[in-house]
Amino acid sequence: MDTKIDMLSRLERRRQGFSLDRPFYTDPDFFKIDMELIWYRDWLFVGHDCEVAKPGSYFTVQIGVYPIVVVRGQDGVIRALHNSCRHRGSRVCSAEKGMAAKLVCPYHQWTYELDGSLLFARQMGDDFCKQDFGLKQAACESVGGYIFVCLADEPADFAPMRAMIEPYLAPHRLTEAKVAFESTIIEKGNWKLVWENNRECYHCAANHPELCKTFPEAPTVTGVQGANSDPEMLAHWAKCEAAGLPSKFSIDPAGQFRATRAPLLRDAVSYTMSGRRAVKKYLSDAVSADRIGSLLLYHYPTTWNHILGDHAVTFRVLPISATETAVTTKWLVHRDAVEGVDYDLAELTHVWTETNDQDRRIVEENAFGIQSPAYEPGPYSEMHEGGVIQFVNWYADFIGPRLVEGEKPALKNVA
Ligand code: FES
Ligand SMILES: [Fe+2]
Repeated sequence: MDTKIDMLSRLERRRQGFSLDRPFYTDPDFFKIDMELIWYRDWLFVGHDCEVAKPGSYFTVQIGVYPIVVVRGQDGVIRALHNSCRHRGSRVCSAEKGMAAKLVCPYHQWTYELDGSLLFARQMGDDFCKQDFGLKQAACESVGGYIFVCLADEPADFAPMRAMIEPYLAPHRLTEAKVAFESTIIEKGNWKLVWENNRECYHCAANHPELCKTFPEAPTVTGVQGANSDPEMLAHWAKCEAAGLPSKFSIDPAGQFRATRAPLLRDAVSYTMSGRRAVKKYLSDAVSADRIGSLLLYHYPTTWNHILGDHAVTFRVLPISATETAVTTKWLVHRDAVEGVDYDLAELTHVWTETNDQDRRIVEENAFGIQSPAYEPGPYSEMHEGGVIQFVNWYADFIGPRLVEGEKPALKNVA
């Protein structure tokens, strides 16, 4: 059966409030369509402005079959270039990150400017027109220190995302931060299982002893419902907004991105075992208010985030296959914070390193069990898993119309 028709009919027949049919989590053909209709079409968080702080600094990222290099030009502009040489297609930059005056293909040394234009190609004849062979660009936007790229020929409007998210992020000045540490783990589970796990804290008490010292498991914090009638949240927003920090719960009409600020447990100010600060220097020179909790921000399908007073922890999800997902975590601190003086790296990273590994195991066990022919979609807890219900609904509503439209030959970016 045609996979798109199969997907669509399963989405139409699915039971509301239940997990999805097995192929959504396991089938390589379903995965390919997720990639075509979501990952190659929509805005994806790839990294931070502060990782490409100077002209010539770059990092590479693999989005499905697309290698991309994100580089800051001599003009200060951050661009996303397709990392595929216009000579015979070799990957131009193979390092994860680096600094380069020009981008030189290692195969035959075609040499590109940082904006992707071709500067030099050896002995290509008199008719050769360099202007025709610049590296292709992908759409690239940055907001509040977060770089997003979009591989579509006609990217969706980024303005609504910018308008909603920017005020929350601005005081935290992540453009001026630095990455103190990063880690990438591969979770043997479909990207949607990674998200489903992230969107609830029903599992937290039994699985995350370190995180639960400071992070509340209340559904009003993790989920998308009830925050506006939770007196603790209301009081926290009032306090933080008085200190100049936008904090109220906001969600875009389609549910693709949400921001809210939540208090941590008791007197905790950071994700440490003691609840005390991990970094002596505040993350932002503009934010020194006490106990601001965590700014929680997600954007489907690539990122969720915790921004605290002393540091930020950012997450990037990238699918590898139907049953493998890369999760990259970055710990951001003030750029002048000095390791060993202002923070101890082990202390800074301990809680989320443990939490990530616990979540990896959870996701892998979930994926393992779903492989069983005995698996059938099960009911989410409305009380605790409202965030998961919302994610699955977003997925279904987002991909559903595209499955139909995909019948038309309009998808130039399908790989
Ligand atoms: S493939 Fe890049 S220079 Fe030949
Ligand atoms: Fe978790």
